[in-house]
Amino acid sequence: MKKKIAIIYGITGQDGAYLARLLLNKKYIVHGIKRRSSSFNSQRIDGIYKDPHFKTNFFLHYGDLTDSLSILKSIAKIKPDEIYNLGAQSHVQVSFDVPEYSANVGALGTLRILDSIRSLGMEKKIKYYQAGTSEMFGATKPPQNEKSQFYPRSPYAVSKLFAHWITINYREAYNIFACNGILFNHESPIRGETFVTKKIITALCKIYNNKEKKLFLGNIYSKRDWGHARDYVEAMWKMLQMNEPDDYVIATGKQYTVKQFINLTVNQLGMKIEWRGKGLREKAYWNNKAIIEIDKKYFRPTEVESLKGDFSKARLKLNWKPKTDINLLIKEMIRFELKNDK
Ligand code: NAP
Ligand code: GDD
Repeated sequence: MKKKIAIIYGITGQDGAYLARLLLNKKYIVHGIKRRSSSFNSQRIDGIYKDPHFKTNFFLHYGDLTDSLSILKSIAKIKPDEIYNLGAQSHVQVSFDVPEYSANVGALGTLRILDSIRSLGMEKKIKYYQAGTSEMFGATKPPQNEKSQFYPRSPYAVSKLFAHWITINYREAYNIFACNGILFNHESPIRGETFVTKKIITALCKIYNNKEKKLFLGNIYSKRDWGHARDYVEAMWKMLQMNEPDDYVIATGKQYTVKQFINLTVNQLGMKIEWRGKGLREKAYWNNKAIIEIDKKYFRPTEVESLKGDFSKARLKLNWKPKTDINLLIKEMIRFELKNDK
């Protein structure tokens, strides 16, 4: 049987690395599009990359979601069966610092891919996955599902809302098989260092080993629905194997505050901590030393307070459910951190 061909935008990111492995295991030929960077940015995929002079099913190409020509040329040349658009400036707080760039990549980057599919006349051949986010629900009360109102609270989330609707518009206008995954937070050992779960686990492992003294955080009372990236990329693939394109919430249905996430982490490390104080003066103590403090620079101009997904539709139609609970996720992240902290 002819092997399926996939393009992944955002191949160097957390999800790109998990999805590439999943598709290679399913015998796909995978083409990853990566940005040129002055230092190497491909650590997450080094383990699967081989010199293309030798036999391989995994190829890398330079490209950028802000560059229409590179997108058009790569799709025309590779002629994929499936495109997964995972590329984004994906840090919510950073999107307040670089709003125009975040919108250019997140919103217009999506339009550039969809319009390339259309202008190349590949509407019938290519299935398209759009990496949507629970951030689009923003201020809407949980539990959130496909029918909940969107109320984005950051330039990142607003750009993703454009991407969501332009995906639906191209599906309806041009009959493209295009799906929106509305994914709630998902983490892993290879999560970006400045997202809160990875930041907490890295710092607490270092503090535990006496290599660092303190961790500074922002709002520890926001609530998130945290799953594992490995489980979530499987849902992306399942969406594109359906007979009809559709949009799906992918989540665990459970929610924890950032503070609870810290407490679960210290429990696994066997550290007994004590919380004292309130507001900006709240601190966590270990062996009578303050190891966690609040720094208001990590507070966002507008916060998303509470996310908890209802993934009933994905369970029913995709036969998908999360396999990894929060304690296993934390365990894997701690193990990776302790092993790699030289
Ligand atoms: P990530 O680790 O930040 O990866 C983002 C990827 O996008 C990286 O490969 C990055 O390349 C690439 N990228 C950034 N700007 C680009 C540009 N101008 N052109 C081409 N590529 C560009 O994010 P992730 O956690 O894997 O998430 C994957 C996607 O799902 C993102 O779109 C994110 O917004 C969305 N999402 C994530 C979550 C989550 O909790 N992880 C939840 C919902 C939705 P560099 O390595 O060069 O920076
Ligand atoms: N990053 C960070 N750093 N967040 C902090 C900190 C800190 O020092 N202190 C508290 N937080 C809080 C944030 O204010 C937020 O409420 C929560 O921790 C989670 O922050 P992040 O881990 O940065 O994730 P996010 O929820 O803002 O966004 C992630 O999930 C979205 C899906 O809901 C990203 O992966 C987005 O790309 C994704 O769309």
